[in-house]
Amino acid sequence: MAFIELKNIRKKYENNADYTVHDFNLDIEKGEFIVFVGPSGCGKSTTLRMIAGLEDITEGDLMIGGERMNDRPPKDRQVAMVFQSYALFPFLTVYDNIGFGLKIRKEDKQARDEKIRRASGILGLDNYLDKKPGDLSGGQKQRVALGRAIVNQAPVFLMDEPLSNLDAKLRGQMREEIVHLHREVGATTIYVTHDQIEAMTMGDRIVVLKDGHIMQVGTPEEIYNNPANAFVASFIGTPPMNFVQGDIHDGCLHMKDGQRLCDVTDDVAARNSQVTVGIRPETVEFAKHADQGVAATVERAELLGADYNLYVNIDGSRVIIRRGVADGPFQEGDQLNLTFPLEALYLFDQQTGARL
Ligand SMILES: Nc1ncnc2c1ncn2[C@@H]1O[C@H](COP(=O)(O)OP(=O)(O)OP(=O)(O)O)[C@@H](O)[C@H]1O
Ligand SMILES: [Mg+2]
Repeated sequence: MAFIELKNIRKKYENNADYTVHDFNLDIEKGEFIVFVGPSGCGKSTTLRMIAGLEDITEGDLMIGGERMNDRPPKDRQVAMVFQSYALFPFLTVYDNIGFGLKIRKEDKQARDEKIRRASGILGLDNYLDKKPGDLSGGQKQRVALGRAIVNQAPVFLMDEPLSNLDAKLRGQMREEIVHLHREVGATTIYVTHDQIEAMTMGDRIVVLKDGHIMQVGTPEEIYNNPANAFVASFIGTPPMNFVQGDIHDGCLHMKDGQRLCDVTDDVAARNSQVTVGIRPETVEFAKHADQGVAATVERAELLGADYNLYVNIDGSRVIIRRGVADGPFQEGDQLNLTFPLEALYLFDQQTGARL
């Protein structure tokens, strides 16, 4: 039995005609770091709030530690929640903000003090305990919010986009800190984000959502290397996977540019159909000889530091490719000859988007 079980969970808001979350099934093991990722409005927060007890569960069962939680109030679910807006009390010091829940629960002063100091040590807040939230940076405020979750010693942490108010650099830093914190504290964590980089770098497993449906559950490697469908393939990865039209006939895959790739597997070759071909930007290669490959023109070259993103035009289709600086320099107007290694291509059904 898994520590947290979501069984056929559904959510319908009163005023909405359709379900917002459809038949959500997931088993989470103790200590796992799970990330819910997906575009805005796909139901991430709704699902998290149902787990927290801040939102009613319309249908299905939520089990934590083997007990059904549907009808329990939030305080009896063993969860601590961290929000995007830090929800700190502006008139209390950092010390009292971290210890607020403990005080409410009437823990004695010394036990409270030990827990607060342990949390502030982990989070590097020792020098700020006397300050008020108004005197802190965004990252420090978020750390105070995390501190409040830590001292509650809840076995489950629920985090809803806790870093989205921070600038890019601080976000990267806090990402590290939360992963570190998870190692230290060991609480089972469900982390909601629409940021695929956070999902890839933080999660033991990622749940990709779209329109209230689970598209795929897997480790970051599985999601990246083995996307179940075109949506997952396009959502995870920067720059995103390229999609071009392909045509299967006479037992071969034909790219729109005329490249013939005959080694497709027999069951795919038997289809005789139009397919969507997915190509990750980093897998496109340069032809060894000038008379090989597909002609492409560089329309824009973005130097990111270690890599270039090249926006190239292949016979009217736009494809992004990624190459290391060592292959450059590149500039607008460069003519390239590209090849697409068969083993790096993904084929998707053109209608359903399912991976073939
Ligand atoms: N209280 C509510 N009443 C009615 N509909 C709601 C309510 N809260 C959310 N919704 C709708 O449910 C859907 C899912 O919302 P939710 O907040 O779970 O999305 P999300 O994935 O967290 O998006 P975001 O990334 O923007 O935070 C949205 O279409 C939203 O409009
Ligand atoms: Mg949300």
